[in-house]
This record gives sequence, C-alpha cells and structure tokens, in this order.
Amino acid sequence: MAVIVNLETGRDKQPDALDRLTQLVRDDLDRVNELILQHMQSPVSLIPQLAGHIIAAGGKRLRPVLTLAAARLCGHPGPRAAGLAACVEFIHTATLLHDDVVDESDLRRGEASANVLWGNKASVLVGDFLFSRAFQLMVADGSLRILEILCSASAKIAEGEVLQLMTTNDTATTEQAYLEVIKGKTAILFSAACEVGAVLADRPKSEQEALASFGLNLGIAFQLIDDALDYSAKQEALGKKIGDDFREGKITLPVILAFLRGDKTEREFWRRTLEHQEQKGGDLAEAQRLIAKHNALSDTVQRAAYYGAVARDALGIFPDSADKRALIEVVDFCIRRGH
Ligand code: IPE
Ligand code: IPE
Ligand code: MG
Ligand code: MG
Repeated sequence: MAVIVNLETGRDKQPDALDRLTQLVRDDLDRVNELILQHMQSPVSLIPQLAGHIIAAGGKRLRPVLTLAAARLCGHPGPRAAGLAACVEFIHTATLLHDDVVDESDLRRGEASANVLWGNKASVLVGDFLFSRAFQLMVADGSLRILEILCSASAKIAEGEVLQLMTTNDTATTEQAYLEVIKGKTAILFSAACEVGAVLADRPKSEQEALASFGLNLGIAFQLIDDALDYSAKQEALGKKIGDDFREGKITLPVILAFLRGDKTEREFWRRTLEHQEQKGGDLAEAQRLIAKHNALSDTVQRAAYYGAVARDALGIFPDSADKRALIEVVDFCIRRGH
C-alpha cells in the first residue's frame, strides 16, 4: 500500500528571499513534489515509511528549486526540468540519511532523525534506495550528458564525505583542505543542480559553465554558513542540533580560524576536545567563547560573502530577468539564513 505523505504539514517556513524564487517555480515545484512522492514508493513498507518521514519533514527544497530556476533562466521550463529536479532532491535526501548516520545526528528538519527512529542500518539502506531512484530518474530523462554530470557529482559527494572523515579530529587541517571537503560534500551538488538547467535547455557551453560556477560558489557559501550556524543558530529555526560538529570532532572553518589565532592554552583545549575527543560539560560553551573571541564566526560569514559575490558575478552573462533577480536574491538568503 502506498504511504501517504502530507507535504503541507512539513516545516517549510521560508523567508522572503528564498520564497520569491520558490514562488516563481511554484507549479513546477508542485510537480517535483508529486514525483518525489511517487518515486519513493515501494512494496517494501519500511522504505516509504522511512523515506516519507524525512520527506514530509520538509526541507527547503533549495537544490530542486535551483534546477527549475536555472532551466527557466535558460528558457526551458517544463517536464524534463521537474524530473531532474526531483532526481537532485533524491540525491540530496539520500546523502542526508547517510550523513546523519555518519555524524550520529539525532535531529533533522525539526524531527527525530531516521537513524534514531529506525536505526543506522535502515537509514543507510533506504539512502541507497533513494540514490537508485535518482539514477532511474536520470535514465528516464535520457540525456547522457546529464547522467554524466549527476553521476560524477554523486561520486564527488562521497569523496567529500570520506575526505571529511580523514580530517575529523585533525586540528592541523588547513583552510584549503577544508574547502576541498565542502566543495565535494555540498557545493558540487549545487553546481550540478544549476548546470543541468542549462544543459537541458541546450544552451552554449559558456552558459552551462556560468551556471555550474554559480552553483559551485553558492554551495561553498551555503556550507560555510551551515558550519557557522552549527555554533550559533537557534535549534528551533535550524531544525538541527547545535554543536553536532563540535561533538563529532569535525574540523570546520570556525574551528580552524580559532585554532590558528589561539594561544598555547587555547590550542590545548582544541586538541583535548577535538583531537582526543575528551569533552565535558561546558566545553561547547568554551568553544563558542573562543570562536567569538577570535571573530571566527564573522570571518566565516565574510568568506561566505566572498563566494556569494563570485556566484552572483557568474550570472553576469545572462540578461536581466525576474528569474535572474530571484537567483541573485537566493545568494543573499544563503548568507543571511538562520535555517
Ligand atoms: C543540509 O542541507 C545539508 C548541507 C549541505 C548543509 P539543507 O540545509 O539544504 O537541508 P534541507 O533540505 O533544507 O533540510
Ligand atoms: C552536509 O554536511 C553534507 C551532506 C549532507 C553530504 P553537514 O554534516 O554539515 O550537514 P548537516 O549539518 O548535518 O545538515
Ligand atoms: Mg551532518
Ligand atoms: Mg552542518
């Protein structure tokens, strides 16, 4: 029996900047949501139960919105864009299921995460199922070039996550190494989501590359802010637990900057808590204090603003339009967001 998921009850409150773009692609996005619900079905009941839980919890649908908007910007709204946007969201959802297992996170989109409710094994396996559904959607679309873009993005996401695993607990991680991690685990999918819009519309290479660059730089900015929010957001708004990165010993830019700018005692603190994973009550608050002392959050946001500016400029080759203006507003959303 099909599992019914009511998307209207999900946490999908959006501030104006993202809302404007979402409204522009509303009809197509409704179609994307239909496709998502249709393709998450399976006679194996645990699959639609678990997948339905994370899908109904909402999420911003930012990546599919980018695919739809990029296609519109390139003069190609329509059914193929919706199928590929659904595919992009399936890839994203699969990575979230896997990511929460790896990160041992217990809150996602304001709800208990699937790994808490059904365990790690079920989360990993349903994540694999959603990946496979994404591949089916690509094959249904039929473009080998798009298959190549999205498959190589999927491989790069996995590489990014493994690279992150290799830098975990290593306080000597450089900003450069961190950038490689976030490009892989996050920015490449943003890039692919946008590039697909131009490829779909059969636009010249210059436009495909411009949209790929827009997505890549937007994705870097997005993850930089995500990493700042992990130390500073309101849990209620973020829908994720604050301090997950610290507890996991993840080396993100706020930590890299605070470590580099810290004195001997401070570096000892970071080594104890992140390298040796010896954490006690009050350590997260101390980490937040050190990060604030060294302006590591505001400088992380400033780095994000730089990549946001690069993203914005990449759209320079496109003539002015409502779609372009809304895409540019999304850059601001990604930098100012609290969720
Ligand atoms: C979460 O992405 C994973 C990261 C790359 C930080 P989103 O913040 O887009 O997650 P949802 O889809 O809105 O829940
Ligand atoms: C997200 O990284 C990357 C992927 C989901 C591939 P994070 O671990 O920072 O994402 P959140 O904070 O759990 O959403
Ligand atoms: Mg995580
Ligand atoms: Mg995070």
